[in-house]
Amino acid sequence: MGQTILELHDIVKTFPGVLALNGINFNLQGGEIHAICGENGAGKSTLMKVVCGVHEADSGTMVVNGKQENFSNPMEAYEKGVSIIFQETSLFEEMTVLDNLFLGHEKTKKAGIIKVLDYGGMRKEAEKIFQRLNTKINLDAQIKTLGMAQKQMVEIAKALTFDANIIIFDEPTASLTQREVTALFKIINDLKASGLGIVYISHRMEEIFELCDRVTVVRDGQYISTKNIAETNKDELVADMVGRKMGSYYPKSETAIGEEIFRVEGYYDEGFLENISFNVKKGEILGFAGLAGAGRTELMESICGFTGRAAGTVWLEGKRLHIKNYKDAMANGIVYVSEDRGKYGLIVDMSIQQNISLPQLENFKKGPGFLDVKKESDKGAEYIKEVGIKAPAPDFLVANLSGGNQQKVSVSKALAMNPKLLILDEPTRGVDVNAKAEIHKIISELTQKGLTIIMISSELPELIGMCDRIYVMKDGYIAGSFDRENVTQEKILTVALESKKEKQEG
Ligand SMILES: Nc1ncnc2c1ncn2[C@@H]1O[C@H](COP(=O)(O)OP(=O)(O)OP(=O)(O)O)[C@@H](O)[C@H]1O
Ligand SMILES: [Mg+2]
Repeated sequence: MGQTILELHDIVKTFPGVLALNGINFNLQGGEIHAICGENGAGKSTLMKVVCGVHEADSGTMVVNGKQENFSNPMEAYEKGVSIIFQETSLFEEMTVLDNLFLGHEKTKKAGIIKVLDYGGMRKEAEKIFQRLNTKINLDAQIKTLGMAQKQMVEIAKALTFDANIIIFDEPTASLTQREVTALFKIINDLKASGLGIVYISHRMEEIFELCDRVTVVRDGQYISTKNIAETNKDELVADMVGRKMGSYYPKSETAIGEEIFRVEGYYDEGFLENISFNVKKGEILGFAGLAGAGRTELMESICGFTGRAAGTVWLEGKRLHIKNYKDAMANGIVYVSEDRGKYGLIVDMSIQQNISLPQLENFKKGPGFLDVKKESDKGAEYIKEVGIKAPAPDFLVANLSGGNQQKVSVSKALAMNPKLLILDEPTRGVDVNAKAEIHKIISELTQKGLTIIMISSELPELIGMCDRIYVMKDGYIAGSFDRENVTQEKILTVALESKKEKQEG
């Protein structure tokens, strides 16, 4: 490992009513990948935002490349070689790749006595950088036409246009496919090999052990430990994160599974879904596995009336349903938690309690037209406690919650609606190990009370740990199914990966 290129001493940061960072120490060396771990709301993103000048620390010092610094905005950080790749990208959607790369630090050349933009020079440098990243991309494409993985590549390229020697990744793989993750890891390893220091924030233990050299754990805004990856293990890391030893990671409870409650037959959507039929029994947790793009989200969104295109028949408790939109679905007791919190999920400019009451305001009325704010706040407090949302009060704005805690609000909102069938799409994305186990525990307990659950997840251990049965989707059809007793990761992957042709022949 090389020299220390980033040092943080005793960083403190408060927000109104929240002590987000309480004396954090951290150091990064050139040529290392250093993970930061901690529960949702522990302060990981805030710490990195302080480094990059998004937030100003209340106190503490930072040394970057040997010099004491205090960036007042991200541009200043970029110019000193520090760049951050946020989970939600910060690129300008309407502008091209090339314009985004050099925004704010355009190359110029002299034309006579005036300076003009040097488009040729910028293009050449951009081409060189993408070559180094081994990525083909159209420099003139608008950002909004790119997928998540490509946007990330543009962000990395942008960091390299500044000649960054410190790059911070905040949960970069949350919305990538397995193949894209592999490609990203190769790039990160190459950057490390050329001497850069990388900070890597993730909740995925396997990634941390595969990729990183050291790991620093923070808990409740406090510095806990820094360890060499080779000298620690998952249980030890989790114990540092939660402050105690964890019990079972997948606390599934024994539930008496009842009669069939929900059935879908011949579900079809030109070009997306092919003749899909399945059923779920009362109290069951039914999993849907598959690679990204297999059609799982499309299927559930379409059953819940979001698209209104698909054809097929749907029965709930023996009654045929005609769901035209999501309101119909909810009225029948079917509730969907989207993988995209922003899309059908949360209104971040509202509080936790408002988000929970919003879909069922009629249950929070006090007299004609008045909202029972006390009842709303009590409900909010109940879920903060039950699901373990890290927030000072139920009227706290969702926008000010950490990513994983927003996810918990999204799940709470659905649970509060008392559904018959709850469809969870990637319910624990961005959620820390402990909170994950909490959410799993709640889900499992609810099935004992008769709730039925369909769960889409890209994390196979989660599906295998929680589900009674698992369907595997591929290219818009159901390619296989497994019972809890005989499922393994290998079996699911074999079905998810095998090509259609092989399947027909075999
Ligand atoms: N702008 C803000 N205003 C008020 N509180 C904030 C703000 N930003 C963050 N916080 C609070 O600071 C604490 C740390 O949040 P942070 O986003 O750093 O957590 P995190 O470790 O990144 O969590 P996650 O794993 O969920 O992303 C949380 O309690 C959060 O609610
Ligand atoms: Mg975060």
